[in-house]
Amino acid sequence: MKKLFIKTFGCQMNIYDSNRIYDSLKGIDFVKTSNQNDADCYILNTCHIRDKAKEKVYHEVGRIKKNYENKKKPIMVIAGCVAQAENEEMFKREPFIDIVIGPQSYHKIKDVILKHEKNKKKEETEIDTIDKFIHFDNIKNNSNKISSFLTIQEGCDKFCHYCVVPFTRGPEYSRSFYKIIDEATQLISNGVKEITLLGQNVNAYCYRENSKEFRLSNLINELEKIPDLKRIRYTTSHPLDMTEDLIDCYKSSKKLMPFVHLPIQSGSNKILKLMNRKHTVEQFIDVYEKLMRINNDIKFSSDFIIGYPGETNDDFEETISLVKKIKFINSFSFIFSPRPGTKAADYNLINTNVSKERLKVIQRLLFSYQLETNKLFKNCKVEVLIENKMKDQNKLFGRNKYLNSVIIDGNENQIGKLVEVIINNFNQNTLFGRIPNCDTKVYN
Ligand code: SAH
Ligand code: SF4
Ligand code: F3S
Repeated sequence: MKKLFIKTFGCQMNIYDSNRIYDSLKGIDFVKTSNQNDADCYILNTCHIRDKAKEKVYHEVGRIKKNYENKKKPIMVIAGCVAQAENEEMFKREPFIDIVIGPQSYHKIKDVILKHEKNKKKEETEIDTIDKFIHFDNIKNNSNKISSFLTIQEGCDKFCHYCVVPFTRGPEYSRSFYKIIDEATQLISNGVKEITLLGQNVNAYCYRENSKEFRLSNLINELEKIPDLKRIRYTTSHPLDMTEDLIDCYKSSKKLMPFVHLPIQSGSNKILKLMNRKHTVEQFIDVYEKLMRINNDIKFSSDFIIGYPGETNDDFEETISLVKKIKFINSFSFIFSPRPGTKAADYNLINTNVSKERLKVIQRLLFSYQLETNKLFKNCKVEVLIENKMKDQNKLFGRNKYLNSVIIDGNENQIGKLVEVIINNFNQNTLFGRIPNCDTKVYN
C-alpha cells in the first residue's frame, strides 16, 4: 500500500474534492496518511482567490521539498484552482512539482498518477465537468463525518470583475438530481447526519431531465424526507438566485438550518456596478426582508471586499450602514486582491493604508455583532449536533443551528446526536456548554 497525503486550501468545494480524490485513488491502492512527511504521493489542493492564497502554495512546496531532502521524493501533485490558472508555468517556477491538475480534470487523476514516470511532467487542465462527475458518480463516497459536504453545482457564469472562479472552475454546471440524491443516501448510510450542499453559486442549481426542472428547493425537499438526515445547509448563494421556491423552504422545511450565507461584497451601488455584481443593495435588502418575513429566526452572514478600486469613504460608509442594518454574524472580509486575467486587475488600486484601516473598522464591527449574538445564548438551552470528540481534550465539538462552534463537556456516545446544551460561556468564535443530566465523563 502506498501512502497519500492531501493538504487542502480554499473553500469547502476543495474539501469535498480532496475527499473524492482519496475515494478515487483508493482504487489504485493508495491509503490516506496523516503523516505529511512520509507520503509516496503528496497532493496540494489549492486556491487562487487572492494572491496570498497562491503564494502559500509555493511556500508549501518549498517546505515539502526540504523535508524530503534525504528521503525518496514523493509524486508531487498540484490540484485545484492555482493548478488551473497557472498550469505548466508551475513546473518552471518549482521543478519539484510533477503533476498539475485542474478541478475539472479529477477523473483523470488516477491514470495520471499510475502512469507517472520520474522526471516527466504532466499537466491536465481541460475543463471537462461532465466526465468528471460521470467518473465520481461510479465511485462510492466514503465520507462518514457527521457533517459532510456534497457538491451539487460547479463553476460560475457571472463574471464579477474581481473574481477568478469563472476561469478556474469553468462555466456553471449542475449535477443530476438523482445522482445527488444517491450520493446523499450513501453518505447518510455512512453515518452522516448533516449535509451541506455546495456550489460556487449553489442556488443557481438547475438540472433538467425529461422536461422536468429541478432546483435547489427540490433537492432540499427530497432530502427532508430521509429520516436519518438531521440537518440541511447550502453554500454559497448569490442574491440574484434567491428564488421564491427557495425562500419558501425556510417555512416548509424543518431540517434546513435558519442561517443564510449571502455575499454582498459592498453596500454601495456604485461599487456593486463596478464589480459587475448585477444586483443592487436594494435587491439584496429585498431578499433579506422576504426571508425574514417567512422566518424571523434566520441569521445572515456575508462576504465583503474592502478597498475595491474606486471605493471612496462614502462608499465604505454605505457598507458600514448595511452591516449595521442586517447585523451579519460570522462574515468574511478581505482587502481587494487584483487577480491576473480578471477585468479589475487593470483598475487603479486605492491607497493600501486606507484599505487596511477600512478593513480594521469593518472587522471590529462584524466581530462585535458576532460577540453580541454569542452573548444571546448565555444561560440558554440550544440544540447542538455533536460532531466529534476534540483532539487531546475530553470535550465534544458540535454546532448550533447558526453554525456557531460549541465546545461541550459531555459523553462520547452523544456523537451524531442532536442534543440540548446549556451554554455557560462564550467568546467571539465559540460557545461553551454542558449537556444537562448527562454523565460528563468522556471516554478516551
Ligand atoms: N460565488 C460567491 C463567492 C465565491 S468567492 C459569490 O458570488 O458571492 C468567495 C469570496 O471571495 C467572495 O465572496 C469575495 O468576497 C472574495 N473574493 C473573490 N475574489 C476576490 C478578490 N479578487 N479579492 C478579494 N476578495 C475576493
Ligand atoms: Fe466569483 Fe462573482 Fe461568480 Fe461569485 S458570482 S463565483 S464572486 S464571479
Ligand atoms: Fe479558491 Fe477555487 Fe474555492 S479559487 S475559493 S478553491 S473555487
